[in-house]
Amino acid sequence: MQYRIQPSTINDAVVGIPGDKSISHRAIMLGSIAEGQTSVDGFLAGDDCLATMAAFRQMGVEIEQPTPTNLEIHGVGLHGLQRPATDIDLGNSGTAMRLLAGVMAGQEFVATLTGDESLTERPMQRIITPLTQMGAVIDSRNGKPPLTIRGNEKLRSIDYELPMASAQVKSAILLASLYAQGQTTVSEPAPTRDHTERMLRTMGVEIDATNGQVSLDGQQSLHGCPLHIPGDLSSAAFVMLAALLADSAELLINNVGVNPTRSGVINILQAMGAKISLENPRVLGEEPAADIRVRSSELQGIVVDPALVSRAIDEFPVLFVAAAAAKGETVFSGLAELRVKESDRIAAMSDGLRALGIEVEETEDGAIVHGGRFTTGEVQSFGDHRVAMSLAAAATIAEGPVTVHDVATVETSFPGFVSCLQGIGVTIQYGTGEAG
Ligand code: S3P
Repeated sequence: MQYRIQPSTINDAVVGIPGDKSISHRAIMLGSIAEGQTSVDGFLAGDDCLATMAAFRQMGVEIEQPTPTNLEIHGVGLHGLQRPATDIDLGNSGTAMRLLAGVMAGQEFVATLTGDESLTERPMQRIITPLTQMGAVIDSRNGKPPLTIRGNEKLRSIDYELPMASAQVKSAILLASLYAQGQTTVSEPAPTRDHTERMLRTMGVEIDATNGQVSLDGQQSLHGCPLHIPGDLSSAAFVMLAALLADSAELLINNVGVNPTRSGVINILQAMGAKISLENPRVLGEEPAADIRVRSSELQGIVVDPALVSRAIDEFPVLFVAAAAAKGETVFSGLAELRVKESDRIAAMSDGLRALGIEVEETEDGAIVHGGRFTTGEVQSFGDHRVAMSLAAAATIAEGPVTVHDVATVETSFPGFVSCLQGIGVTIQYGTGEAG
């Protein structure tokens, strides 16, 4: 499937964004292993989170979905999951696989987790190492999926220093630690998203998070409760980008999560001169949220502070496009983790921007992007949803039509992306590209 995008004029508009993907995964996982019922609103009904939902249904959890964004999860408690009859297919979702592996480490049954072509090439040793230290037995294909996990309900607690900044690894360990005897501590080299910690606390778990260390006593039960999920800042970022690049547009994006462990993209864009402001700051459940106002801006190239990388980890495709449209050069470094996302995002974005006439020097852990003008042409997304959406936003100010190939995975995180862009004035078609 592909997008065909024409140069477009962005309208002033008020828009809503689908629910946060990271928080939606966690709502299903924690709701399923909680005691009692968890009602969720703002759920993201994208393919990734639907894969997580299917996984817990396979393990006997009753989850009702009265509307696409509302769930009623009938929690079975820490020890109530049942052995799945078949392998669990997590599609494209690294979050689903890594976090679920943490839960499976604490089960008295064997289960196999697998996924699509991209997911089965992603590194899993980063969770295999700590979960094995805790007492799980995990078979893999040289550190890659499928993972066959033989768990046990009496894991050992560990004191673990994360070798890389990763909320997925941190969360996998925290979830497994619920099944461990004693206190587990995880230390992180840089702050990563803390949605797991916040939601565990909401569900009654005592958890201590200070100075880059998270500690949790095992054997605490979770209590089902209402959960409210804000819009996903990582999805809002594509729409913000389209507004920033436009000649003259003002968008108000309602109800977006602005957790400080996620909002690095706003800081980096503001440092480039972006006119972005947060309005009506509030707290939704345990998560900070706000309405985001964005106005078209003249962007300037900058040296991006590597200290901000972990707080903007999914937004570098957007930031590469912003850099390409900025005056001067932008230097990105500290992005080694981008090479093991849904695609090698440094390579994919460098390739896509070059195809649109931008000069990019790729480095091992980043790139130097020289601002320029987007020409017309064809670009590849390498099956990566965030690459596809970033290049689609770039296309709105290209000199002519742009085709973005291999975009079906956008459904994993941003169902309704095409109609959202159409709603702000973008001429975009989604199809197979075949005539007729
Ligand atoms: C996520 C953590 C990040 C991020 C991913 C979602 C999460 O991955 O890239 O999209 O929900 O915990 P890493 O932990 O691998 O950096």
